[in-house]
Amino acid sequence: MKHDAITSSNSADTTGALRSVIAGACAESPHLLHVLHALQQRFLHISHEAIHAVAAQLDVPVSQVESVVEFYSFFHKTPRGRYDILFSNCTSCGDTDLMRLLCQRLDVVAGKTRTDGLASIGQTSCIGMCDHGAALLVNGQPITGLDAGMITRIAELVITETPLADWPAEWFHVDDNIRRTGLLLNDDLAAGDGLRAMLAHGAADTLNEIIQSGLRGRGGAGFSTGMKWKFCREAQREAQGDARYVVCNADEGEPGTFKDRVLLHSYADSVFEGMTICGFVIGARKGFLYLRGEYRYLLPQLQTVLARRRELGLLGNNILGQPGFDFDIGIVAGAGAYICGEESALIESLEGKRGMPRNRPPFPVTHGYLGQPTVVNNVETFAAAAHIMRHGSAWFRSTGTEKSAGSKILSVSGDCAKPGIYEYPFGVTIQQVLDDCGAQDVQAVQIGGPSGTLIGSNGFNRRLGFEDMSTGGSFMVFGRERDLMEVIVNFAHFFAHESCGFCTPCRVGTALLRNGLDKIAGGRGTQYDLDEMQRIGMLIKRRSHCGLGQTAANPILDSLQRFPHIFEQRLVHRDFVPHFDLDAALEEARRITHRDDAAAHLK
Ligand SMILES: Cc1cc2nc3c(=O)[nH]c(=O)nc-3n(C[C@H](O)[C@H](O)[C@H](O)COP(=O)(O)O)c2cc1C
Ligand code: SF4
Repeated sequence: MKHDAITSSNSADTTGALRSVIAGACAESPHLLHVLHALQQRFLHISHEAIHAVAAQLDVPVSQVESVVEFYSFFHKTPRGRYDILFSNCTSCGDTDLMRLLCQRLDVVAGKTRTDGLASIGQTSCIGMCDHGAALLVNGQPITGLDAGMITRIAELVITETPLADWPAEWFHVDDNIRRTGLLLNDDLAAGDGLRAMLAHGAADTLNEIIQSGLRGRGGAGFSTGMKWKFCREAQREAQGDARYVVCNADEGEPGTFKDRVLLHSYADSVFEGMTICGFVIGARKGFLYLRGEYRYLLPQLQTVLARRRELGLLGNNILGQPGFDFDIGIVAGAGAYICGEESALIESLEGKRGMPRNRPPFPVTHGYLGQPTVVNNVETFAAAAHIMRHGSAWFRSTGTEKSAGSKILSVSGDCAKPGIYEYPFGVTIQQVLDDCGAQDVQAVQIGGPSGTLIGSNGFNRRLGFEDMSTGGSFMVFGRERDLMEVIVNFAHFFAHESCGFCTPCRVGTALLRNGLDKIAGGRGTQYDLDEMQRIGMLIKRRSHCGLGQTAANPILDSLQRFPHIFEQRLVHRDFVPHFDLDAALEEARRITHRDDAAAHLK
C-alpha cells in the first residue's frame, strides 16, 4: 500500500499507533478538533478505542468526544476510503454528473466506501471554489475546474494508488481570480503599518477612529465594528477569569462565498493586523482564527505568515517594543459544519464542543470564549480595520454611502463570463456588477447566498449596502437557461442538511420544506403543498433559535413571491389531494368490527 493510513482497528500495533498519533497531535495543538482530525487522517475513521484514548489524554468526558465526532461531517466512526473524495454540491461549484461518473469509474456507491477500502465518494456543501467551476476535495485537498477528462484521469490515479504528491500539481492550484480592486485589494499596507499608526494614536483614539469610520461587520449582519469593540472593552470582567479574546470568523460556509479564501490566501497580513489592533483596543492577549475545514489547505501558508509576524515583532510579547502589548494568534480548523459560522456556535466549537448556537443574550462581547468578553468579526472586517488605522477614518468614509461606509468584496459566481472577486464601493447597483462580470440574459441573482435574497430582473437597479441589499458577499448569477426550481431545491437540501437539530422548528421545518419541494419538483405537488410550505416557512422564520433557521425559508418564500410560475407549472392539481385514501385505510377496522354501514365510511 502506497498510503500510510491505517484502517485495521484489530491490529496489535493499533493501540500504540493510536497513542503516538494522539501524542503527536497534542504536541502541535491540544485542541480536540485538531486531535480528531489527526486521527481521522491516519486511521480514516475515529474508533471507539480512539474516542476513549482522546478523552483520557485531553481529560474531557468520553461523551463530549463522542458527540463532537458525531456532529462534524468530516469525522467518521466507520472507515472512509484511502482516497476520500467529496464533491461540492453547490449550484456554482458542484456537478453531480461528474460525481456519478467517478463513482462508475471506481465502482463506488455514492456515500459509501468501496469494500477494499480504496476509495469513498460523497457530497459536501459548497467548498468555496465557486469561481473555478466544478470542484472536489480529495483527502482535504481541493481540485477545481473538473471535467469528464479529469475525472477519468483521477480514476486512473486512484486505481494505481498514486500518492497525491504525484498528481498533476496544477490541479491543486487555486487562483485568486481578482477581477476588480478597491480600497482593500489595492493593498499598499506593509506588515506593521496599521499597528504603528495605532500605537501613535493609543487605544482610546484607535477605538474612536474605528467608530468614526462607520465600519460595519462584513459577515452579513452589519453591526457597527467600533461599537462591538467598545462593548467588549467596557465589559465587566468575570470573577473566574480576566481574559479577553479576539476571534476571526473564517468559517465562510455560505454557498457562493469565497472572498475570505482570497483574503486569507493573499492578504493574510492585513487580517492578522486587524486582529492585533482589536486585541490592543479591547485588552486581549490571545486571538483565534477559526478556519473552515474546507480551507485546511491554507493552513501551512497561514502559519508561515504568523511565524514571520512573530519574527518581525508584530506578534508575541511587547509588540513593536511597546511594553505590555502582548498578543498572539492561534488557528483552529473546523470540520465541516456550516452552523459554526454563527458566532456563538463558533465559540462552542472553539471550546471543543458541538457547534450549537448559544442563547443570546448574553452576547459574546460580554460572555464569549470560556465565558470571557470576546470580539468575533469577519475576515474582511479585520482587514478593513487595519486599513482604516493606516489611512484614517475619513479616507474610509469617503467611499460608499452614508450608512454603508467603505467597500464590499463580492464573490461573483454562476452564469457569467468572468466569475471571481470584485471589490466595489457600497452603493453599486446589481446591474453594474452583472455588466462587469459579463452576465447576459440574466433571470435572477441570489444576493448573500441561500440565506440571502433572490432578486429578479425588476430588482437589478437595487443597490448593495445596508440601506437596501446587505450581503456577506455571495453574488450568484442565474441565466435564463437555469431551472430555478433546481436551485431552490438545492438550497432547501442545504439547510435541511446543515440544521444543527437543536430546535424543533428548524430541525423539522427544514426537512418538511425539503420534502415538499422535492414533491413539487417531482411533479407530484398540489396547491395544498404550496400553501403548507408557505405556512411552515413563516413558522421557521419566526420560531427558530438562530439565524440559520430564521433565514432557511428565504429562498422558498422569495421565489414563491417573485417567481410563482416555477411552482405553479409543476402542480398536478390546484386543490387539496390527500396523500392516501383514508377511507380505504379504515377497511381493516370495519372488517374487525363487522361494520360496513354508511356511518362507518368517511365518504
Ligand atoms: C448560520 C450562520 C452562518 C454564519 N456564517 C458566517 C461566516 O461564515 N462568516 C462570518 O463572518 N459570519 C458568519 N455569520 C455571522 C456571524 O454570526 C457573526 O455575525 C459575524 O461573524 C460577526 O462578524 P462581523 O460583525 O464582522 O460581520 C453566520 C451567521 C449564521 C446565523
Ligand atoms: S435554528 Fe437550526 S441551526 Fe439554529 S439552533 Fe435551531 S436547529 Fe440549530
